[in-house]
Amino acid sequence: MKNIVILISGRGSNMQAIVEADISGAHIAAVIANRPDAAGLTWAAARGLTTAVLDHKLFSQRETFDAELAKLIDHYQPDLVVLAGFMRILSADFTRHYAGRLLNIHPSLLPAFTGLHTHQRAIDMGCKVAGCTVHFVTAELDHGPIVAQGVVSVQDDDNADSLASRILKLEHQLYPAAIRRFVAGELNIVAGKVASGKQTPSELMVPVL
Ligand code: GRF
Repeated sequence: MKNIVILISGRGSNMQAIVEADISGAHIAAVIANRPDAAGLTWAAARGLTTAVLDHKLFSQRETFDAELAKLIDHYQPDLVVLAGFMRILSADFTRHYAGRLLNIHPSLLPAFTGLHTHQRAIDMGCKVAGCTVHFVTAELDHGPIVAQGVVSVQDDDNADSLASRILKLEHQLYPAAIRRFVAGELNIVAGKVASGKQTPSELMVPVL
């Protein structure tokens, strides 16, 4: 059984999708939030999951908060730590400590549009496709070996909200699927990249005009 600790900051819809996926061989050891009012905490507690809060506002230094957070996480002996809408930049020490066992989902097709406002930026750039990326976390924000990506087309009448809501639906499929592969021991990082793991070559070629 692999212990998973999920970190959230807000509504936690990705956390819910991961819990509901009921991944074989995975045990959700705890859901931890950096905000006491994170709505996802109520859902997780009602579901009988262990929850905890470490309020980042009580810390003046990022490094001190991260060190306390790591202590709290390690109490649950995680094989994997999952960032699910965890809105904090993490210090290099923290990412090093969890190297190879820390995943994030980002709402863009990385390496395009790291950071915030990804949907509006994709629309503003006239992108014909947008999407989401699951990646291992390294010290550099929204970088790190890519595990999986999901793609949607961008419509002429899309705004940031409509695009975000289509991509979010995809996130809810992609993240549990990526975690399932991690738990099954299928994610190998070789030379900074995750191998696709496919036995037979498959190609996805979709013109979007
Ligand atoms: C998602 O769009 C995720 O990609 C981003 O933050 C959002 C979190 O949403 N990192 P939720 O809290 O999982 O509903």
